[in-house]
Amino acid sequence: MDLNTRPDLKGNHRVKWLSWPYCLGLFSILFATAFCFADLSGSLDEKQILLRLQPEGQVTVEAGGKVVEQKPAVALNPGQKRYEDTCHICHGPGLAGAPKFGDKDEWAPRIAEGMDTLLQHAIHGYKAMPPKGTCMSCSDDEIKEAIEYMISHSK
Ligand code: HEC
Repeated sequence: MDLNTRPDLKGNHRVKWLSWPYCLGLFSILFATAFCFADLSGSLDEKQILLRLQPEGQVTVEAGGKVVEQKPAVALNPGQKRYEDTCHICHGPGLAGAPKFGDKDEWAPRIAEGMDTLLQHAIHGYKAMPPKGTCMSCSDDEIKEAIEYMISHSK
């Protein structure tokens, strides 16, 4: 059977094999262009994207929408953190006769004992001062850092 004598079949044949590549080609070009433009109009580099994901306070948004890293105002001192978490409860208000944070007169005679004695008393307990200020998971170094933090603000 000669297909050329059947215009309808010949027509279907052409539609099937010519139009699809055209459609696909057209879509590919459209997509490619769309991606190009999306990329250009976004123009955010990776760092900006990462910065924008940071919580407020750690980054600042400048006029114009640029996000910049914010340096912490005060570097977190491990001794300060330990003091605030553990020692402040008693040494803040001066509970049970605990030398008050920042009170030079109360701390002066204790500082005079020397760091070794203070550290031994703080680690093993001393009168109403409980061993390690109740922080049994704290290392000796952590206790020392907390003492140093208290002392440096009380002389
Ligand atoms: C439950 C209350 C309490 C907590 C918590 C506490 N202390 Fe004390 N601390 C005291 C008391 C009370 C004294 C005073 C003891 C005395 O001389 O009669 C004291 C005294 C001290 C002294 C002076 C010791 C000396 O030789 O004079 C140091 C140093 C000290 N504490 C460090 C710390 C550190 C560091 C922490 C936290 C890790 C801490 N304390 C947590 C109650 C506490």
